Amino acid sequence: MDPARHYRLLYFSGTGNTHWVFSRLAQALEARGATVALQPVDQLLADCGQGPTGEASDQALQERLAGFVGSAGTLLLGYPVYESTIPRPMRRLIPLLPEGVGTRLGVVCTYMMAGGDCCHLPEAELEPRGYRSVLATYVKMPNNIKFPALRYFPIHNGDELQPFADQAAQAVQRIADDLVLDQRHIEGRSIADHLLGVSQRWSEKLVSDYVNGHLFATARCTRCKLCGESCPMGNIHFDHGYPEFGQSCCDCMRCYHGCPVSAIQLGEGTMDEAAYPRYRGMGGWKPPRLRSISRSHSAEG
Ligand SMILES: Cc1cc2nc3c(=O)[nH]c(=O)nc-3n(C[C@H](O)[C@H](O)[C@H](O)COP(=O)(O)O)c2cc1C
Ligand code: SF4
Ligand code: SF4
Repeated sequence: MDPARHYRLLYFSGTGNTHWVFSRLAQALEARGATVALQPVDQLLADCGQGPTGEASDQALQERLAGFVGSAGTLLLGYPVYESTIPRPMRRLIPLLPEGVGTRLGVVCTYMMAGGDCCHLPEAELEPRGYRSVLATYVKMPNNIKFPALRYFPIHNGDELQPFADQAAQAVQRIADDLVLDQRHIEGRSIADHLLGVSQRWSEKLVSDYVNGHLFATARCTRCKLCGESCPMGNIHFDHGYPEFGQSCCDCMRCYHGCPVSAIQLGEGTMDEAAYPRYRGMGGWKPPRLRSISRSHSAEG
């Protein structure tokens, strides 16, 4: 088989939207005769040691990425837009990818409204390293960010998600066609995209400082440990028996939306669930358990 038809899909998803898109993209490519391997970034990091007691090593990540990409003809990266930036878990992996050998590169970002030049950012780093950019595009998905300092965009759940699913399913088919027919499709490259990207990126630190400074769990917490076991950064520990947050949050919103009893808050204001509903995700999404938090990481018996 033509090596370009061997696809490797590496994606980061905080609250399931990008996972939804990449699962369906894998199916759409397979239906067109491609061979596909999917790798969620959060699981890769956890497998390489990212957790409450340590960080994944570059060497372990590099080895895993080299094995994953191998001699595949096409590498597809997927991630949500965060203020026109690449989420930190994915940003960490891009420099650790193996050299490309004419490998086709595609980037698919999910976003709620405006991505600027975000889908275009990996190209600058990977084209000089032997990758050939053939796709950079966006898929519109439901919003997953709303807290007192950023309260403008609504959260959708239930039946309201269907129009997003319909539109995104069409986008996935279009992306699969472009890839299989080798039709280059590049978005995010205009001056307006770049200006939007630049104007959004300045707020990354503000959002991150807010989130890192305002995460806490209320007494409603049942100590199920799901948040700690699913945090992509290993930023939540249970050293005193209840969830405590470090300073390495990547702003993914997984714990905030994924806690089964909505115990996790982003400031006092989010205790008002009518004003700050949690996003429950597309297609029955649940936070993945990436690691188990054992007794040694918890004072709880
Ligand atoms: C910290 C953060 C920043 C975001 N910034 C943007 C943005 O600049 N533009 C946008 O359209 N959507 C933005 N979003 C919305 C997400 O990109 C969108 O909901 C995405 O589909 C979530 O994907 P996921 O469920 O795979 O994590 C942001 C979400 C978060 C959590
Ligand atoms: S997911 Fe929610 S209930 Fe479970 S430990 Fe975390 S805060 Fe507590
Ligand atoms: S602490 Fe919560 S929001 Fe931050 S990286 Fe972990 S799961 Fe995501």
